[in-house]
Amino acid sequence: MEIKTLGVVGAGQMGSGIAQVGAACGLTVIMNDVQDAFVEKGFATIEKSLGRMAKKGKLTEQEVKEILGRIEGSTSLQDMAKADFVVEAIVENEEVKLNVFKQLDDYCKEGVILSSNTSSISITKIASATKRPENVIGMHFMNPVPVMKLVEIIKGLATSEETYQVTRTLAEKMGKVPVPANDFPGFISNRILMPMINEAVYALFEGVGSAEDIDKVMKLGMNHPMGPLALADLIGLDTCLAIMEVLHKGLGDDKYRPCPLLRKYVDAGWLGQKSGRGFYTYE
Ligand code: 3HC
Repeated sequence: MEIKTLGVVGAGQMGSGIAQVGAACGLTVIMNDVQDAFVEKGFATIEKSLGRMAKKGKLTEQEVKEILGRIEGSTSLQDMAKADFVVEAIVENEEVKLNVFKQLDDYCKEGVILSSNTSSISITKIASATKRPENVIGMHFMNPVPVMKLVEIIKGLATSEETYQVTRTLAEKMGKVPVPANDFPGFISNRILMPMINEAVYALFEGVGSAEDIDKVMKLGMNHPMGPLALADLIGLDTCLAIMEVLHKGLGDDKYRPCPLLRKYVDAGWLGQKSGRGFYTYE
């Protein structure tokens, strides 16, 4: 099936970024979320990102207009009936994801690939909520999506080779570099990244250093583009906690226990950049 229309479920940080790169490579995009306000926020994020690229001379004003013109907002999952390929990028909650995949399976055309941008939840489990597990796959983009080159591609137990190849080709069309990972908690990226972030939170919790100094050590000493605590704020502390919980439960090893300070910040609603406060404060 030729992929002309991309369905994106979730218009948050990741979903809006995926919609943007989809439209930028010439696809028609349906960007869906549960409320108009979330869809509008998604459009605002895309406009800001495209504006940034135009300012740097990477896009013309005309190209920005055309990209935005290819994205249609939606608040009904039934609109995914028009999609030739779907990427789900909603909250990292297994129950909610399973429910969305069950509905996507009902609404989408036969043979349409249903992919998940999950950062750690089992693709095999997500696929089991559908009657097309051979067409379900992980397509894990990195934040900020318009900038980061990587897309991890994760086959579930029943995912077909054809689904894998189509997904790889789509990732390349979107200007990304696909890398395969097996379906284990956190895949490759978050199996390695999240314990590092969690350890940085422990270092703060135990008073080894201030947030600024922990980040400075990793930036200046290890050449990381940003420190782990600033990166946690960018990803979202709720997402970091959810991923640590998946690693802890799925791998059954206490070395993955989430730091109590991370949990406390999430309980306080300090979720990072998106809530205005995390390890740092934001305007
Ligand atoms: N849209 C478009 N362009 C953007 C952008 C956005 N949202 N954010 C940054 N850029 C562009 C800038 O315009 C700039 O372009 P230029 O090279 O032409 O000048 C370039 O990206 C670099 O940005 P800045 O100069 O503003 O700032 P930095 O050099 O500090 O880069 C960063 C910002 C790209 C975010 C960099 O700090 C970085 O790579 N950080 C690490 C990000 C990371 O690790 N992401 C993975 C997170 S894990 C994940 O997503 C998985 C999930 O499951 C948790």
